[in-house]
Amino acid sequence: MQICLIAGARPNFMKLAPLAHALRRRGTPFRIVHTGQHYDEKMSQTFFDELGIPHPDLNLEVGAGSVIWQITEIMRRLDEDLTTHRPDWLVVVGDVNSTLAAALVAAKTGIRLAHVEAGLRSRDLEMPEEVNRIIVDSCSDCLLASEQEGVDNLLNEGVSADKVHLVGNVMIDTLVSHLEAARDRKTHEQLGLAAGEYGLLTLHRPSNVDVREHLASIMHAVAEVSRDLPLVFPVHPRTRKQIEAFNIDLSTMNLKVVEPLGYYGMLGLMDAARIVLTDSGGVQEETTALRVPCLTLRENTERPSTIHVGSNQLVGWRHADILSAYAKVMSQPPRIGQVPDKWDGKAAERIVDVLTSAT
Ligand code: UD1
Repeated sequence: MQICLIAGARPNFMKLAPLAHALRRRGTPFRIVHTGQHYDEKMSQTFFDELGIPHPDLNLEVGAGSVIWQITEIMRRLDEDLTTHRPDWLVVVGDVNSTLAAALVAAKTGIRLAHVEAGLRSRDLEMPEEVNRIIVDSCSDCLLASEQEGVDNLLNEGVSADKVHLVGNVMIDTLVSHLEAARDRKTHEQLGLAAGEYGLLTLHRPSNVDVREHLASIMHAVAEVSRDLPLVFPVHPRTRKQIEAFNIDLSTMNLKVVEPLGYYGMLGLMDAARIVLTDSGGVQEETTALRVPCLTLRENTERPSTIHVGSNQLVGWRHADILSAYAKVMSQPPRIGQVPDKWDGKAAERIVDVLTSAT
């Protein structure tokens, strides 16, 4: 059996790592194809190095461009490669544009497609990832869900139950494997901060950072919060461009503004933070696994289990809502909620079981 794993953008890499390690342990042959959607050292190579992901067998080097150009170019270049290296399974993870492009190639060339993180739905079709999730799932032969809500969504959409498997969360496999090493780095101390005495902020969703009113309102709340608690702010390339374009002055806020962090740096900072403010999907899951309070700067989430178990809450982009949620969290214990079922570090093993037992 030959498996092809697709990697494209930053949030894919922590999901790919445990799959590559589990396949290697089992002696199942696999190739890794990197689309090149994310190409900066800090957005890509760092994660391969820290997580011990084998060097990609092929990098399609698509790079920056319009969304349509990026998707079609990935499709064209991947199709060419799969003609010579036709796998038994093409495995895609998450919901980024690379995931969509690869899924369409599999569907159009009759290669079996497995989707890791299937079934998540925000019900917000203006979110680029939501469109990707729906299309990828509709093309998939094997739908590997990270939480029960994902399974429920797929069954409600009429997907046949024999294609759906609740395997748990591969991203948490990576967290479990690397938490001690991340703690040992003491990244917060390198930034001059004490454990539990700072917050962490990440922002990159187009709906927040590309709309002047939304970004200004969020940064207004951030300025207020930072007067009470210093905030570490690793800035995504998209967000950096927008902060400059909207002339938002960060120098008046109590922020530690840093470049995008590697996996260990980010995990260590999340683990020792008093609170996290984010619009990332992955960070909602990681804070849930760590039981760190998380304010999600969005109106919806495709990961409802992070809310049901207690550590995450949706606060949107309006500064008053963010500030009242912040005040409430600061009156609660520093660790809250519970870890969802099967977020136990063994999801990749379950996935390899499913793939290798399918005929
Ligand atoms: C993408 C994913 C999103 C994920 C996020 C994490 C989609 C639809 N979105 O959004 O789900 O949460 O990645 O980072 O796929 N850029 C660089 N260097 C890089 C990569 C990007 O400068 O290494 C620039 C691009 O040129 C572009 C901007 O950042 O101007 C946005 O990159 P892009 O991959 O299009 O989308 P993200 O906003 O990162």
